[in-house]
Amino acid sequence: MNGTSRILIALVACILVATEDASGRLLDNNCATIDPNPIYVKIDGGKDADIFSNPWMVRVMVNCTAICGGSLITSRFVLTAGHCVSTSHMQVRLGEFDTRYPSKERAFTLDVDKKIVHRNYRKNSHDIGLLRLIQTVMFSDYMRPICILIDEPIGPYSIFNVTGWGKNSRGETPATLQIATLSQTDRYKCIRKFQLEDNMDWICAGSETSDACEGDSGGPLSALRIYQGQRKIFQFGVISGGLGTCNGLGFYANVAYFNNWIAGVIQNFKDFK
Ligand SMILES: *[C@@H]1O[C@H](CO)[C@@H](O)[C@H](O)[C@H]1NC(C)=O
Ligand SMILES: *[C@@H]1O[C@H](CO)[C@@H](O)[C@H](O)[C@H]1NC(C)=O
Repeated sequence: MNGTSRILIALVACILVATEDASGRLLDNNCATIDPNPIYVKIDGGKDADIFSNPWMVRVMVNCTAICGGSLITSRFVLTAGHCVSTSHMQVRLGEFDTRYPSKERAFTLDVDKKIVHRNYRKNSHDIGLLRLIQTVMFSDYMRPICILIDEPIGPYSIFNVTGWGKNSRGETPATLQIATLSQTDRYKCIRKFQLEDNMDWICAGSETSDACEGDSGGPLSALRIYQGQRKIFQFGVISGGLGTCNGLGFYANVAYFNNWIAGVIQNFKDFK
């Protein structure tokens, strides 16, 4: 083979990889397709999220107080962190954007009737849980599941968004949903900083300027990906823990590692009373 054709083959291979569609199965086929023209109107160092672009984002409530974030992943299930699941009364608030001005048209609260935490959950490990809503929700512009890919590893991906209403590093709680961009970070930074075990059930991500923080736990780490020609938002992580000071570094339950667990739980509890 001469040099030129080798370069050509390499180029074609690159293009194939770059445009290749994700090929696994979606947990819910109606999951988030991204609007090509978002309307722009924090998380720490973050900024206000687009009012329409995070319809899967929910607040997880215990005894009527929001303690965590979560993500709608089907019409009846919410994914959150294991440490956000409580034995006390739990509810999920859907369709929220600005907590100061709750919109009756878009936001409402539903009781949780089933709570499932991963059986291997312990502090900083297998920090993942599912909440079943007492009834199914109708999808709309404000309420739609985030995409979860089943049967296929989703990586490698390195740039993510993280969304939440959690505190920023000044201890302020923002009223509007915040979004920040993070990149996947060397695992050993997280292992050293948080004394994590070197297992694949978590991923390490961070940024120089923004981070997830207290109250953000359970919320999604997400990224845009092409699936069968459509731009969709996929969930890659669940906010698990980070620096108490909320700057720079955090670890996230690795959704790809748990996708069969998620699909299995939903299958088991779909109709179960
Ligand atoms: C929720 O309320 C119940 C009843 O008042 C109380 O026993 C429980 O400790 C509360 N749970 C939390 C997490 O605050
Ligand atoms: C993060 O969110 C913004 C705004 O919704 C979007 O434009 C951007 O593509 C997202 N980044 C990734 C990595 O998906």
